Amino acid sequence: MPHATDTEYQHIQLRELAPTIGAEITGVDFSKPVEKEVFDEIHRAIVNYGVLVFRHASLDDACHVAFSALFGELDDIKPYLALGRKNRFPFDELFDVSNQEDDGSLIKLGSKRHHTGLGNSIFHVDSSFNPRRAGFSLLRAHSLPPPGHGGNTDFADTRTAFDELPEDLRKDLLENQYIGAHSLMHSRKKAAPKDSQWLKDVDPEKFPFGRHDVIQTHGPSGRQNLYIANHLHHLEYKHPKSKDFVATPEQPFERVPEPQSTELIEKLLAHATQDKYVLSVEWQNEGDLVIWDNTCVMHKAGQGTFMEKYARDMRRCTVHDGSKDAWGYNEKTTVRMGLP
Ligand code: OGA
Ligand code: MN
Repeated sequence: MPHATDTEYQHIQLRELAPTIGAEITGVDFSKPVEKEVFDEIHRAIVNYGVLVFRHASLDDACHVAFSALFGELDDIKPYLALGRKNRFPFDELFDVSNQEDDGSLIKLGSKRHHTGLGNSIFHVDSSFNPRRAGFSLLRAHSLPPPGHGGNTDFADTRTAFDELPEDLRKDLLENQYIGAHSLMHSRKKAAPKDSQWLKDVDPEKFPFGRHDVIQTHGPSGRQNLYIANHLHHLEYKHPKSKDFVATPEQPFERVPEPQSTELIEKLLAHATQDKYVLSVEWQNEGDLVIWDNTCVMHKAGQGTFMEKYARDMRRCTVHDGSKDAWGYNEKTTVRMGLP
């Protein structure tokens, strides 16, 4: 897929970070509200590249929220607050993605926050488990571990992964029109130690799933995308296979039987996260900002030796998807998965 080149941008400069994904953007003055012409070019760039890196953007909490709101309606952390979490930040639109507890102390290995947070360290898209999925995420480094202690964020290009699907897999996906059932509890369990006292008794089946087509058109680019993530608990057939399948509110689509369902999920994830589709972004400076489009890339937090030693204070704004696919097959409610 050819990319737009620098010459198509008048207000920003763009440097490609990998052949098919990611660009570093310069020339944006974040010390004042970003003007419409500049924003439009940023928006155009993210349609093509999926991931944009801004070094030294140095937004404060308020400007981070204000800039993010240019991309659409913002999600908030009210469901977490309702469950007793405290917000370290003065805005409910800022998600705490740090290795810190609500009081600012470092998360201890083996603690509940540590185990539940490990879900971020396997490839995922944000909020595919909620009724309305996320569109863009804007992640800012407020404070970082010293260099050499890890903590990159990695991105996987699921549009190019679709383009280059092995023929048998592509045929299977196109013929069967799978729906993916996404679950936050599932990815947390998958990433945490098997015997985690915080997660071992959690049953993903007891929570609602977020349902989305596995193959989708990414509207703004017109490219096909594999909308997959480690949140995928199982697959379902859009059209029932067996004559006796009866849809219920809990099970609106016929499930793909096991182990076929899990095997296919793992095959798709392994295909899409090969090195050739992955861009690793190093956080170099406090104030760096990275924006990605959850509807065409996956991401994961890189682990590192910083965990119990240094704060990696990352703050994220999450923009609700505004596309026609935002709700997938879900009921349009404002209920979101919390962090019990
Ligand atoms: C996120 C996330 C990755 C990171 O903010 O959604 O997954 O590197 N973060 O912190
Ligand atoms: Mn994430």
